[in-house]
Amino acid sequence: MRINKYLSGCGIDSRRKCEKLVEDGRVRLNGKVITALGTDVKDGDVVELDGRRVTLTFKKVYVMLNKPKGCVCTVSDEKGRKTVLDFVKLKERIFPVGRLDYDTEGLLLLTNDGELANKITHPKNAVKKVYSVRVEGEPSAAELKRLRNGVEYNGVKYAPAVVTVIGTENDETKLEITVTEGKNHEIKNMIESLGRRVMFLKRIAIGNLRLGGLSRGEWRFLNSRETEYIKSL
Ligand code: URA
Repeated sequence: MRINKYLSGCGIDSRRKCEKLVEDGRVRLNGKVITALGTDVKDGDVVELDGRRVTLTFKKVYVMLNKPKGCVCTVSDEKGRKTVLDFVKLKERIFPVGRLDYDTEGLLLLTNDGELANKITHPKNAVKKVYSVRVEGEPSAAELKRLRNGVEYNGVKYAPAVVTVIGTENDETKLEITVTEGKNHEIKNMIESLGRRVMFLKRIAIGNLRLGGLSRGEWRFLNSRETEYIKSL
């Protein structure tokens, strides 16, 4: 098995992030540092990350957090900012599935199941993510049509989105926007392409999983129905 797949299978992080750990020289195979991504792990091999042995047998956990603003979606932050793991203390080594910006709140999944994290974040699986968005001003019908047809911003193309207008109040318009790509700053860039700013952004659903009544900073394990559902995506 390829080293990144092995590490991801051990619950370290998604396969792509595990490639970086290898490239950064943090992984040893049978005592020797390896940096080649093509390295294979065979039965009986000893794999270490940062000097600690990692193995494929572990319990998988699936957590839903209502991420508040003011924290980053990483396991540790080099600038010392609060991370989402400050809100979820478990003995299992979990990591966030995809990311929400520092100032975005809402539904975030955390797991130690690297395969599942890949499935949910990979664009080819087109898992729907629903955002509640407050936009400055009142987007015109033509602007909404642009979002629904797909926009381009700074040379990046964004696929057509499902956009529902919820209402306008105090010179801000509340929209619900459904996207499937998962590009960086996707919603903010789509709105910026209209020459407008996002005033508030919250993810309220991933596929059929909904945030429901979780308050900011609160988390819970997914129930068995939800776990089966995300595995079937
Ligand atoms: N789109 C954004 O712009 N930011 C997020 O955090 C999520 C989606």
